[in-house]
Amino acid sequence: MGPVTARAAVLRQSGVRGPYVETRPLAFEEVLVEPPGFGEIQVRVRAASLCHSDLSAINGDRPWPVPLVIGHEAAGEVIGLGEGVSRFSIGDAVAMVFKPFCGQCLPCLSGRGVLCEPGGASNATASLLGGYQRLRLHGQTLHHHMGVAAFSEVVTISQHSAVKIRPGLPWEIAALFGCAVLTGAGAVFNTAGVRPGQSVAVVGLGGVGCSSLLAAKAAGATIRIAVDRLPAKLEMAVRLGATHTVNPADSDALEQIRAITGGGSLGGVDVAFEMAGVVPALDFAYRAAKKGGLMVSAGLPNPSAQWPLQAVSLIADEKTVKGSYMGSAVPIRDIPRYIDLYQAGLLPVDLLLGRTMALEDLHEALDALDQGQALRQVVVFR
Ligand SMILES: NC(=O)c1ccc[n+]([C@@H]2O[C@H](COP(=O)([O-])OP(=O)(O)OC[C@H]3O[C@@H](n4cnc5c(N)ncnc54)[C@H](O)[C@@H]3O)[C@@H](O)[C@H]2O)c1
Ligand SMILES: [Zn+2]
Ligand SMILES: [Zn+2]
Repeated sequence: MGPVTARAAVLRQSGVRGPYVETRPLAFEEVLVEPPGFGEIQVRVRAASLCHSDLSAINGDRPWPVPLVIGHEAAGEVIGLGEGVSRFSIGDAVAMVFKPFCGQCLPCLSGRGVLCEPGGASNATASLLGGYQRLRLHGQTLHHHMGVAAFSEVVTISQHSAVKIRPGLPWEIAALFGCAVLTGAGAVFNTAGVRPGQSVAVVGLGGVGCSSLLAAKAAGATIRIAVDRLPAKLEMAVRLGATHTVNPADSDALEQIRAITGGGSLGGVDVAFEMAGVVPALDFAYRAAKKGGLMVSAGLPNPSAQWPLQAVSLIADEKTVKGSYMGSAVPIRDIPRYIDLYQAGLLPVDLLLGRTMALEDLHEALDALDQGQALRQVVVFR
């Protein structure tokens, strides 16, 4: 088995701002994809959706080495097996995951695979688990975004960067489970452990936050407050099951949340989720949590961002603050579970789906994402 060619979206320079239809940071190239090595699989990507973390790789909020093939939220079909691969067969449907779990390090063996050390090290160098990069362009090696590089018709990845899924799901739906749903629903089910009858607020209504909103309903949260600066997102959130909406730009936004949840000094939600990736949203979520409440943050701000916290409020109000990476997931357990919930009608993630498009439409899609006009826009490879 030799290298194969594939159309891919290559980022040559990080730190580029929009409008992307003008700055055009991506080059659409025929790349060479090397065959899978030991423990690796080759996947024909059938659908890859655009996440804010792709935008952050481009605008420099989350720095990555270049040249980089972006994309990490995807699904496809296994077309090649390296030696030592036992979990997959040719023809399997898979969803990609954006951090591989080696299964052997202390965090992995402690059930905290999202903290996997080799997985973190390989993502930091934009390599596959094991250190390899399997994409070439004109003799130059290309980096893999988050161990994947999903905006490529074909990819070679570690077997630990994919989860086998039930066949027959529409590819553009299957793709969503690898990041938006794994992260947003996982924050609700795993990190927060939301219980029936609780009140929640979700701050930041992108694909990730909206997945949290859907999951909060599935978990039985009775008050579900959607929070975003964009009025159109608030309208949309009602269709996704929000019981109330609040715009944090309103001067009385926190009072509105206290009034919805009981009022006075006891007001505030049991669990507030920060899903925007900016400090003002994190601060708002912290304040929206009631005394004794929990704030879960999953947005990924620029590494230089600091959060000035009134220290005594943490103690006097007995609040809990938790970070949530990858929905505190065990992907091999959670992705099939979330697909079951979707198919049972309890987690209608199809509501996240915006337009499907060709690879060459990514610049337009980046502008729509940047301006908050889209939840999930999906490249479908035909
Ligand atoms: N923790 C993880 O494992 C993980 C995984 C995937 C994505 N992320 C991060 O989650 C964040 C959300 O991703 P997405 O794809 O849903 O993004 P998105 O751009 O689609 O949505 C973000 C939303 O936040 C809103 N927002 C911005 N500032 C706000 C503020 N101050 N108050 C309230 N709302 C505000 C925007 O209007 C937008 O609707 C990003 O930072 C992304 O990098 C984290
Ligand atoms: Zn993502
Ligand atoms: Zn590990």
